[in-house]
Amino acid sequence: MSVEEKAFTEQVRNKRGEMIAICSAKGGIGKTAMAVNLAVALSKNNTKSSNSQICIMDADFQFGDVGLSMDLHPTFTIKDVMESIDTMDKHTLSSYLIKHSSGVKILAAPDRPEYADLVFPDRLDKVCDLLLSGHDYVIVDTPSGFTDKTLQIIEKADSVFMVTTLEMAAIKSTKLMLETLILLGLRDKIKLLVNRSTMDSVIKASDVPDFLGEDMPYYVPNEWEVVSQSLNSGVPFVLKNGKTDIAKAVCKIAEQLIQRREISVFQPKQTSFIQSIIQRALGGHSSTL
Ligand SMILES: Nc1ncnc2c1ncn2[C@@H]1O[C@H](COP(=O)(O)OP(=O)(O)OP(=O)(O)O)[C@@H](O)[C@H]1O
Ligand SMILES: [Mg+2]
Repeated sequence: MSVEEKAFTEQVRNKRGEMIAICSAKGGIGKTAMAVNLAVALSKNNTKSSNSQICIMDADFQFGDVGLSMDLHPTFTIKDVMESIDTMDKHTLSSYLIKHSSGVKILAAPDRPEYADLVFPDRLDKVCDLLLSGHDYVIVDTPSGFTDKTLQIIEKADSVFMVTTLEMAAIKSTKLMLETLILLGLRDKIKLLVNRSTMDSVIKASDVPDFLGEDMPYYVPNEWEVVSQSLNSGVPFVLKNGKTDIAKAVCKIAEQLIQRREISVFQPKQTSFIQSIIQRALGGHSSTL
């Protein structure tokens, strides 16, 4: 690798990663299943040259179960990080993460619900920044509905996956949550994910774009046995059941995220109109502009 290539790779490494928050209006809708499997699907796309760093922050600070869903037993949680945050940098933070065999790292939620109050907003902000400086993707699993901290995460995230199913109550609550996010000026970063999209319901998957005002949501099929076995055994279905439709759907979402990120990170900087005029006037020697 040439010096320039090395410098460029280093520059890309030092770039801020992408934060993707997985949210929903209703509980028990598949956020954790999506967060875990999406993170592992992203890591499955890694090659020697594109060794993306992926981490999940379990922001369900009361009842987080990302560790359980990946059969991990973390020694440290975000509660410990909060206690030492003042002196922490991205390297020290990495010793508080637990690594899954897929390469995905986890910052676990506190092990008791009462510790959730020890996650203070300003410190949470710093944790997100440190995770973003050390990872290409930070997937954040959240509790359902609006809590102050979920809203903080939604505001900070680059993308928000709003998970819904086709059940009437889920659609109704998702619509309300979307309306609130529109009022807050956050609609642009929301992407709808219709989970269990092949389930029996009076609402059809094809009705969702009209109901919720999004042309092209992501669709993830209903495969209860695969998902529940995966969550209960702690083995992500994209690893164990890679050939199922649900694994393929999640891997496709991961591929789209990677393509989008490659375009935004590796796209050569566009020369502005004024720059190109000055460049031409200077005979093409305006490299400092
Ligand atoms: N695509 C799917 N097909 C079938 N069942 C699913 C699917 N996704 C999730 N489930 C089931 O839904 C249940 C809830 O999943 P999960 O724990 O991921 O939801 P959650 O939104 O994180 O819940 P909570 O709000 O409690 O955190 C689990 O029993 C899981 O097996
Ligand atoms: Mg969950």
